[in-house]
Amino acid sequence: MKEYKIAVIPGDGIGIEVVESAIEVITKQSKNKNYTFSLEYFDWSSEYYFKHNEMMPKDGIKQLKNFDAIFLGAVGHPDIQDHITLNGLLLPIRRAFDQFACVRPSILYPGVESPLKNIKPYDIDLVVVRENTEGEYANVGGFQYRDFPEEIAVQSAVFTRKGCERVIRYAFELAKSRNKKNHVTSITKSNAQGYSMTLWDRVFNEVKIDYPSIKTNSLLIDAACMDFLRRPKEFDVVVASNLFGDILTDIGAIITGSMGLASSGNIDPTNNSPSMFEPTHGSAPDIAGKKIANPMAQILTAAIMLDHLGEKDSAQELELSVKKVLEKGDTLTPDLGGESQTNDVTSAILSLL
Ligand code: NAD
Ligand code: IPM
Ligand code: MN
Repeated sequence: MKEYKIAVIPGDGIGIEVVESAIEVITKQSKNKNYTFSLEYFDWSSEYYFKHNEMMPKDGIKQLKNFDAIFLGAVGHPDIQDHITLNGLLLPIRRAFDQFACVRPSILYPGVESPLKNIKPYDIDLVVVRENTEGEYANVGGFQYRDFPEEIAVQSAVFTRKGCERVIRYAFELAKSRNKKNHVTSITKSNAQGYSMTLWDRVFNEVKIDYPSIKTNSLLIDAACMDFLRRPKEFDVVVASNLFGDILTDIGAIITGSMGLASSGNIDPTNNSPSMFEPTHGSAPDIAGKKIANPMAQILTAAIMLDHLGEKDSAQELELSVKKVLEKGDTLTPDLGGESQTNDVTSAILSLL
């Protein structure tokens, strides 16, 4: 019997609520399988910060290193500046474990209403591959003349040839293995960012030569945001820098129904380090504690984790049970137009496993 060691970090707000649901679901599912989970919980969160003045202990990364995967809800608290919470936990983990490919699918499932007109189930079926360790999130910069009228803030984006190449190559490999539209779209703003993003463009043009069966195009981020609304059916795999991928995936989430369905994986494709699985959404302080958070994004995120661990059948089964609940349509949380609570949706999914 295989045992997967999973580090569970529920985090803040609805992160805590949806992680509880997803863990219940994958634990039950594993009962009829040839694997089990050994779960270790970490209370690293904003509450932890209030007590210890840090988001995780100094040796946090070391503590996580030997897990097979990290399963995270969300972090972020209205009383702490977000750059403290996120630079104290989420972003250092992504960087330390070199989780350079952030994979975020947007699929319009049957039973889900898109805010866009004239659109049928599966008309939108795309994956954004977001560069996840450098770019605009490189955490390089500083202040000069702090708090004086002359204050200067410098925030540098860092684009390396190696960093661009590996994530672009990952996107091409994904397009090949998906075997759907066999298409990769590259997103930049190289008309204005004349160094970093022209490097990206050059590398994209070099890598695509190795994939003659994959069609490509390049879009500027502003036009890409428009095309996600205007012609979302045309996208297959979309590869973008850290910040642009972040922005595009919230759009991808809402055109396919809700942030509450948007799954995500921070992948280290080399498997030298654990990958981290957390949905695209945040801690949603506006609905935290109301028991109405949609757990499906976290559950679909668990499916990405299972897939990464090699449990492909379980991953598909999990996605299928979410799809069945969506299609039936009588147990949905308010973000999808329903009146059910988090635990009703969890029970509906559990009953299908
Ligand atoms: P958010 O994703 O938390 O919420 C945006 C909107 O989507 C809100 O109206 C929320 O109610 C809704 N929503 C999100 N997830 C939902 C779900 N599962 N079910 C139903 N509705 C859902 O984004 P925000 O409000 O900009 O950020 C809140 C906090 O979370 C901030 O502190 C932010 O920095 C943090 N954040 C953390 C992560 C993460 O940990 N991965 C991601 C994004 C934002
Ligand atoms: C996400 C989030 C994070 C990001 C924030 C909270 C730092 O928005 O995972 O999409 O921008 O990566
Ligand atoms: Mn985001």
